Amino acid sequence: MERSLYERLGSAAGIKALVADVVEAHMNNPVIQARFLPYRDDPDNLAAVSQQLCDFFCAGSGGPEAYTGRGMVEAHRGMNISAEEYLAATDDIMSTLTAHGIDEQTRNDVLAIAYALKGEIMRV
Ligand code: HEM
Repeated sequence: MERSLYERLGSAAGIKALVADVVEAHMNNPVIQARFLPYRDDPDNLAAVSQQLCDFFCAGSGGPEAYTGRGMVEAHRGMNISAEEYLAATDDIMSTLTAHGIDEQTRNDVLAIAYALKGEIMRV
């Protein structure tokens, strides 16, 4: 039987480690760091958002976790996220997957999901 995307991403522990490094990459990415650096001075909020991101990716990749955060339109409404910013965030996700040794098919599966969500996140 084919392994689920959740399993291929390393299940809860793997996804938690991926999310931590993606958020760190966003904080170091000049295109989008201004959006994320404020969380560095607010560890409780950083932990809360990181937990939501973990649950989102776990639930969305076939894991047993429930996502209780907002929908993508609601979560990003008013941020006026540009195409350049969306691409920068997606690049951070892809390079983190590579750094964690995630295989190409799995990276492409994640990219397809990121692409599909674009209309719910960009300029909403
Ligand atoms: C594939 C693309 C993306 C996905 C899957 C995604 C997913 C999420 C999720 C699940 C949350 C948590 C929502 C909640 O707590 O209710 C969130 C929050 C957030 N996202 Fe995204 N996001 C994406 C792209 C972006 C981009 C491109 C930016 C900005 C450049 C961005 C900025 C933020 C910020 C600042 C928050 C925190 C909002 C808050 O604290 O209220 N996201 N995102």
